[in-house]
Amino acid sequence: MSLFRTKSIEASIAETVEEEYQLKKNLTAVDLTVFGIGVIIGAGIFTLTGRAAAQYAGPAIVISFVIAAFACGLAALCYAEFASTVPVSGSAYTFSYATLGELVAWIIGWDLLLEMMLGASVVAQGWSQYFVVFLGHLGITFPASVSPGAAFDLPAFLLVAVITALIAYGIKESMRVNLIFVALKLFVVLFVIVAGMRFIQTENYTPFIPDAIAPAASNAGIMHAPLLQTIFGLNPTTYGWGGILAGASLVFFAYIGFDVVATTAEEARNPQRDLPIGIIASLIICTILYIAVSLVITGMVHYDKINPKAALAAAFESVGQGWASTLISAGAVAGLFTVVMTLMIGATRVVFAMSRDWLLPPWLGRTHPRTGTPVRITLIVGTLVALVASLTPIGKLEEMVNIGTLSAFVLVSVAVPILRKRRPDLQRSFKVPGSPVLPWLAALVSLYLMLNLPLDTWIRFLIWMALGFAIYFMYSRTHSRLNVQGHAATPYEHIGNPAAGGSFDANGSTRHDA
Ligand code: ALA
Repeated sequence: MSLFRTKSIEASIAETVEEEYQLKKNLTAVDLTVFGIGVIIGAGIFTLTGRAAAQYAGPAIVISFVIAAFACGLAALCYAEFASTVPVSGSAYTFSYATLGELVAWIIGWDLLLEMMLGASVVAQGWSQYFVVFLGHLGITFPASVSPGAAFDLPAFLLVAVITALIAYGIKESMRVNLIFVALKLFVVLFVIVAGMRFIQTENYTPFIPDAIAPAASNAGIMHAPLLQTIFGLNPTTYGWGGILAGASLVFFAYIGFDVVATTAEEARNPQRDLPIGIIASLIICTILYIAVSLVITGMVHYDKINPKAALAAAFESVGQGWASTLISAGAVAGLFTVVMTLMIGATRVVFAMSRDWLLPPWLGRTHPRTGTPVRITLIVGTLVALVASLTPIGKLEEMVNIGTLSAFVLVSVAVPILRKRRPDLQRSFKVPGSPVLPWLAALVSLYLMLNLPLDTWIRFLIWMALGFAIYFMYSRTHSRLNVQGHAATPYEHIGNPAAGGSFDANGSTRHDA
């Protein structure tokens, strides 16, 4: 039974006032929305959209975006309810610890680390590509031996190093940098929409849904076909409705990030009100922008001529507007910076929450008295992301990120009706309408998108999960705070009153020796 032991919501909230593990509560609803947009708009729209349109769906990539937005919207409602009920750092990990038990919480935390650390690495690689292109526009040639695609990607490494230093220094400072870069990125996305509209040729929308055909040689084979097609023994195809669904599972990447807003719950001034606003507002804004951008790109260039690497910049070059390509690469450099930064902040907060629960070594999570940030975790996450970003080849890792995220969505959605049943008394300032039908639908849609990912992604995902289980059973299960202390609950009255935090055991070293 101990695998399913749950941690009470009150205990989770009470621990946030322990001095050693305290984060600064600085963020407003606007900060959270900007944070959301900062992490959502990134490599997904700047690079993936072109590839998905060219290789999977044609102009119907717009439908893929709508399907992915539908899945994310349903999941976002579930995240918003949880975040308004359990305003504690760690996002889905913390929610599930309160409902589905320790093992499921561990699995979700492990999935979130896959999403955020690997996501940050993938986007850092994308940043590096745009950075080199941007320098090229300025007439500077970056040495090829340490450029993206070489054995060591120096720009990606340096980017992650700078971001690590920044987020270790302080979250408010990071948010300021974020604000400027998000503004620049939004400007460029709006520019693409407004300037690109003039070049739309409606005949490019025909056929809107290209006929299904056998996939190109590079994508052929059972390993690359969507798992569903393989399970049902269907001949692998691309384009058509199968392509639209595979495209949705891929461009899902472009929406990842609204869930990361929930990881900053403890740093929000008024989390119960502001987190649902931040999560839902950022998702709505990005959905509108994505649909507009994909309509513009597939309208400017026929889908079979879209450049899958740098679709936005190339589309403007193809209509004789090369200067716009410089602007777009500048926007991508700024825009992808914020995505890497936000994903890294999210990853550190998940490890932070796991370490505070002693599922990972507790000394990792102590916050620095001056900066108010978990410096040790930040350095470890920064090192890992820098190594993956600079040393691994640019490949199909986006789908690995998607499967990690979608699996967390499934579990979070299922957890909403469970928590309502177990703890009807908790105050929920935001409630998913139509529960339990809507949360169940959210879980099914996410699962369906997972099944549209290729077999090779599933295999890599299962290996990652096996590693997670090994760590859980070899370390976390016995060291868990719940296991060691038997309970972690503290009186409800202490919540929100830091002065009262001292009345329960806040002495980290004593507990750690236990
Ligand atoms: N949604 C983020 C991006 O598109 C991860 O880069």
